[in-house]
Amino acid sequence: MIKIHFNHNEITMKSPESQPVTAIAHPNIAFIKYWGNRDQQLRLPCNSSLSMNLSGLETRTTVYFDPSLHKDVFILGGERITGAAAERVSAFLNVVREFAGVDSYAQIESQNNFPAGAGVASSASAFAALALAASTAIGLELSEKELSRLARRGSGSACRSIPTGFVEWQAGSSDADSYAWSIAPAQHWSLVDLVCVIDKGHKAVGSTGGHALAGTSPLQSLRLAHVQERVDLCRSAILARDFETFAEVVEEDSNLMHAVMRTSNTPLHYWLPETEVVLWMVKSWRKEGIPVCATVDAGPNVHVLVESAHANWVEQQLSRLPGISQIYKAQPGDGARLI
Ligand code: DP6
Repeated sequence: MIKIHFNHNEITMKSPESQPVTAIAHPNIAFIKYWGNRDQQLRLPCNSSLSMNLSGLETRTTVYFDPSLHKDVFILGGERITGAAAERVSAFLNVVREFAGVDSYAQIESQNNFPAGAGVASSASAFAALALAASTAIGLELSEKELSRLARRGSGSACRSIPTGFVEWQAGSSDADSYAWSIAPAQHWSLVDLVCVIDKGHKAVGSTGGHALAGTSPLQSLRLAHVQERVDLCRSAILARDFETFAEVVEEDSNLMHAVMRTSNTPLHYWLPETEVVLWMVKSWRKEGIPVCATVDAGPNVHVLVESAHANWVEQQLSRLPGISQIYKAQPGDGARLI
């Protein structure tokens, strides 16, 4: 075992594993959103964000660095992947290889237990699982903080799928201090995320393209002006299990992000009429006293957040609304781990 210095950090390095290494990670749902980067290449976000890992939904990834390979081989759901998705994986592995000072290519096999149209972005769980499996396979022993920084390079939100439960990603001022940590374990609060799938089609502009447009909206600076207050308020609400405060700030933050999206150049309008119906109904149930609120990511699907005692009732009501093709139910989940 040797110690190496990289980017001002001391990293413990063993020899690369002679066996494939497998890791699991969950996707996460952001309560305070990440939208826009200060540095697009390093994925340094414009603002800090807060999220919850989603148990039950997972990516399982196995990595093996094989000196006999002439390029990386990426298999997803049993199929060989080429093109942009494979290039993104290889670009990420280049960061891992540079870190470790190793130049072998890798065999990567990955599987999601949720379909691409589940209304949950798979890039967070994908790059969190890949960061853990690849760094371990290449012989790096990274702390949770280093792992979170590394996962961020693959997909910003992936840095929040490394720590357990309820997670805060500090925007930071550089690559060194932009990482996520757990603010509370999964058992802290029995929230349920009912993911309402409204449209399974592919988005015209995904998150990476959307982040690049955020700065073109005149509303982005207004969204950013008070985002740290929303992070602080949402963190306190989570820690105190104060659903009312949580609900207000989560919905406000989601609406602000969508206002930025709609006013960017090119405008991004992700909601469908059915999205609006779910949001209206959630508001009306909350007025009746049900602890329920909603948030929407870069797509039309709605994440309905509800305290577990009311989850079955809310799920039943949602199932009667038009245009919802499926509802996935997820609870607070653990961080990334090796198996
Ligand atoms: C709307 O992490 O998917 O879900 O870094 O380009 O992979 P990349 O973007 P990504 O962006 C997530 C955007 C969001 C909000 C959030 O999860 O905070």
